[in-house]
Amino acid sequence: MSAPALIVLRDICFSFSPTKPVLNHASFVLAPGEKIALTGPNGAGKTTLLHIMMGLQTPQTGTIEILQKTCKTEKDFSAIRGKVGLLFQDSDDQLFCPTVIEDVAFGPLNLGYNDAQALEISYKTLADLGLSGFENRITHQLSGGEKRLVALATVLAMAPDILLLDEPTNGLDQTVESRLTDILQALPQAMVIISHNRSFLDQVATRKVTLHNGDLISGDETIKNTIAGKTS
Ligand SMILES: Nc1ncnc2c1ncn2[C@@H]1O[C@H](COP(=O)(O)OP(=O)(O)OP(=O)(O)O)[C@@H](O)[C@H]1O
Ligand SMILES: [Mg+2]
Repeated sequence: MSAPALIVLRDICFSFSPTKPVLNHASFVLAPGEKIALTGPNGAGKTTLLHIMMGLQTPQTGTIEILQKTCKTEKDFSAIRGKVGLLFQDSDDQLFCPTVIEDVAFGPLNLGYNDAQALEISYKTLADLGLSGFENRITHQLSGGEKRLVALATVLAMAPDILLLDEPTNGLDQTVESRLTDILQALPQAMVIISHNRSFLDQVATRKVTLHNGDLISGDETIKNTIAGKTS
């Protein structure tokens, strides 16, 4: 018997306004060990879909199961948020403490680690990302790429069971992107990665899905349907 799915979305419909649906009966499954690339044009609804998985947006219809728990209410989602790490598309939405070490230690402290443990985890996570020496930097003074890595450190420091990464390579130079590629390849966690960076996705993703007209289809189907003129 295969291991149970980590995320199951069924028949999700979501719109910000009644005239323009973003998700239209979308269904999605993340299985253990999968690294799913979520692609689609600007405005397709990719970020919205990750926010729905975290309970930050509520779909009009459909069901959400995270780690075998049906999630409907804020209480349901708050119970799983420590186990699902979301890297926001905009690093400034993630970083809110004065210094880097405070931002990275915030998650472990919230999970119940004591000060010494949270600091140890934070120093190690920063070191793994090549950020040793950044601990006491003022977060809002960091460059865009540095903020991206610190934001990722805040997520990885919590060692979540599932990673939801919204455009993780944005603002990273080639060297740092290649280090991030190695790190993500080596991580055992299942993840959903939104990116417009094809070469990065080709190296990290085990499967690709695309948001097309509010529905999720496998990467290959998108290409086949487009060739066959089946897109509407
Ligand atoms: N808070 C909001 N209120 C109204 N409309 C919104 C809101 N957030 C997003 N939208 C709209 O919903 C649609 C989906 O947005 P979303 O951010 O999910 O797209 P995306 O696929 O992540 O795009 P990108 O690749 O540019 O990041 C877009 O048309 C966007 O303008
Ligand atoms: Mg987005």
